[in-house]
Amino acid sequence: MNYIGSKHTLLPFIEQTYRQICDGSENVVCDLFAGTGAVGRHFKRLGLRVIANDLQYYSYVLNKAYIEINEPPAFSGLQKEYAREIAQYRTLIADPIIEVLAFASNLTRATGFITQNYSPIGSRFYYTEENAERADALRQALEIWKSQGIISSEEYFYLLCSLIEAIDQVANTASVYGAFLKKFKASALKPLTLKPLTLYNHVTNCQVFNLDANELIGQIESDILYLDPPYNHRQYGANYHVLETIASYDSPEIYGITGLRDYMRSRYCQPKAVVEAFEHLIRTARTKHILLSYNDEGLLSLEDVHRILSLRGEPRIFMQPYSRFKADSERAYKRDETIEYLHYVRVVR
Ligand SMILES: C[S@@+](CC[C@H](N)C(=O)[O-])C[C@H]1O[C@@H](n2cnc3c(N)ncnc32)[C@H](O)[C@@H]1O
Repeated sequence: MNYIGSKHTLLPFIEQTYRQICDGSENVVCDLFAGTGAVGRHFKRLGLRVIANDLQYYSYVLNKAYIEINEPPAFSGLQKEYAREIAQYRTLIADPIIEVLAFASNLTRATGFITQNYSPIGSRFYYTEENAERADALRQALEIWKSQGIISSEEYFYLLCSLIEAIDQVANTASVYGAFLKKFKASALKPLTLKPLTLYNHVTNCQVFNLDANELIGQIESDILYLDPPYNHRQYGANYHVLETIASYDSPEIYGITGLRDYMRSRYCQPKAVVEAFEHLIRTARTKHILLSYNDEGLLSLEDVHRILSLRGEPRIFMQPYSRFKADSERAYKRDETIEYLHYVRVVR
């Protein structure tokens, strides 16, 4: 997923830094601001137990699937209930997951909150009417299948995660959901198609939370605490509001041209609140190593970061050049490359 602040392309740098600082005794990593889950997934791939968390529910869904599920579910209830329908999608490869995903992508289309509010039917052009109806149909089916015990909790999150990723692929936006394009772009005209998830490693007891980081921090313990908070005023709740609503499917009150819902305002995006929030987080952390992604253009100054990390040990900085996220190609930025910082502290106090 194309996500603001995603560390997907920085995974080699994060892993390399981790290898420099670890002593071999580390088993548990906490990805406290998990977003797409890219970092937690990478550590899971390395065999560590992962605790992931994010304030946004769509992120919780992605992480519930990628972090907690170890192998593709069997979907035996669904296979039994819809044997004939699913069999229609059998190919030479005969892969049950591919068949179930094709079936889920092609349910009889239905209208619902997504179609009524985020397609041309509701005078918003986030999705074509057809894709919005496919998403509504699956979203409604998922709730019914879950409540009737046709799918397990794992199966529910597997399909919902695949839906969130697929619907993002056909979104008619420049990148985030702060606005939609007036004309449908080519990728938005493609049919919504669920894809299998790439799952790594069988690691038991991974856990995923949907809490404010400052609330969770006192309740967990890890060997490595990886922190990737937002670094500017752009609230994820506003930028990804449509995904939040599709993930929670809670028919919220919405307003304005973009159909925005009320959202949780992160203190990490507020100049007046961020220092206090970050200091509380660092003081409360129960961990051996703290790794923080934060560059030199954030609301927290590098001096603040250094002072606060010094509360727990002697901070070090690892650096790497990094290409900037382009939210919209028409906006001119001063430079296209920025330095990515990984701040590190071995906790001794
Ligand atoms: C820079 S992004 C993380 C990106 C992630 N590392 C990745 O690779 O996808 C920051 C994330 O922090 C989350 N967030 C913001 N404030 C938060 C808070 N107070 N508690 C927990 N998560 C928060 C946002 O929803 C967002 O997903």
